[in-house]
Amino acid sequence: MENLVITEIPVPDISDNEVLVQVKVFSVNPVDIKTRLGRGHASRLKEYNPMILGWDISGTIIKTGKSVISFKPGDDVFGMINFPGHGKAYAEFVAAPESHLALKPFNISHEEAAAASLAALTAWQVLKEKFKLKPGYRILIHSAAGGVGHYAVQMSRYLGAYVIGTASEKNREFVLRLGASEHIDYEKQNFEDLLTDIDFVLDTMGGNYIDRSLKVMRCGGIIISIPSGASEFVKEKAKEKGLTGDTFRVQSNGKDMKEISDLLQLGIITSHISKTFTFDEIRAAHQQIETGKTRGKIVVKMS
Ligand SMILES: NC(=O)c1ccc[n+]([C@@H]2O[C@H](COP(=O)([O-])OP(=O)(O)OC[C@H]3O[C@@H](n4cnc5c(N)ncnc54)[C@H](OP(=O)(O)O)[C@@H]3O)[C@@H](O)[C@H]2O)c1
Repeated sequence: MENLVITEIPVPDISDNEVLVQVKVFSVNPVDIKTRLGRGHASRLKEYNPMILGWDISGTIIKTGKSVISFKPGDDVFGMINFPGHGKAYAEFVAAPESHLALKPFNISHEEAAAASLAALTAWQVLKEKFKLKPGYRILIHSAAGGVGHYAVQMSRYLGAYVIGTASEKNREFVLRLGASEHIDYEKQNFEDLLTDIDFVLDTMGGNYIDRSLKVMRCGGIIISIPSGASEFVKEKAKEKGLTGDTFRVQSNGKDMKEISDLLQLGIITSHISKTFTFDEIRAAHQQIETGKTRGKIVVKMS
């Protein structure tokens, strides 16, 4: 944690296709912690000094580059900036490409918007691009109460799927309220003893969750494994069983953020924020994610 320090740096310059955002709230994801610990995206970002962590912001545009046409100063925007590059989101001012942002819905807070960036985008891109989820499909979502999982449950339900979510008993009601048809308490039950004919698995755990998940899938099913490192054999393992397996990495994308913005504005998805930290409490925010037990999202408020 010693390498996580607060310091003063100049306000960033913007290029022609960027906007300068005064950040109101940013969100914290497991990849931030992995990167701080020298894993995650640390090797890609190691030449930056200081390395500014974070990718998820919600805030107000105070300046636009010459080529920017979608936004103007004063607009409230949110998004996942420059992922998997250097997002620099843990800051008062962020230079953000126009193409990574969407307007913040007028009827949600900056907290709810910042939360719905990397985690919501991951869920949305996997469901839309990898699964092409349609009504009636049976989807198993691991860590259904977590950052990615709690959006994935709501989105899958909206897309008409039959949703089964794993979480501990204390999150049972939460997961069912999000729209899951079934909750499996992973501490008391082995999901592979209970399930069959699963079309899609969103694997947030990796490791032996891959082998166990493959046992419950129907012929032709697809498993997407999102934890980096823990998922390297998913393709081969799935293929051995005649199934499709793949890893996935979320990409910054303003068009997808606009779709998420619409889902938020219409109340089709909501962000569950279990705790809001101040900037001075950033280390405590990292410690919370490190528990692996965060319900929904945590965010950090700049002022
Ligand atoms: N590839 C990508 O583009 C991408 C994008 C986003 C995230 N990720 C990765 O995906 C993983 C999940 O991210 P996240 O933001 O959702 O994490 P998170 O919010 O920290 O996940 C916390 C949740 O995990 C649940 N959980 C813990 N152990 C579990 C188990 N054995 N079975 C089921 N649920 C369990 C907890 O529920 P209980 O308290 O009920 O146990 C808690 O609600 C991380 O490794 C992250 O780095 C990858």
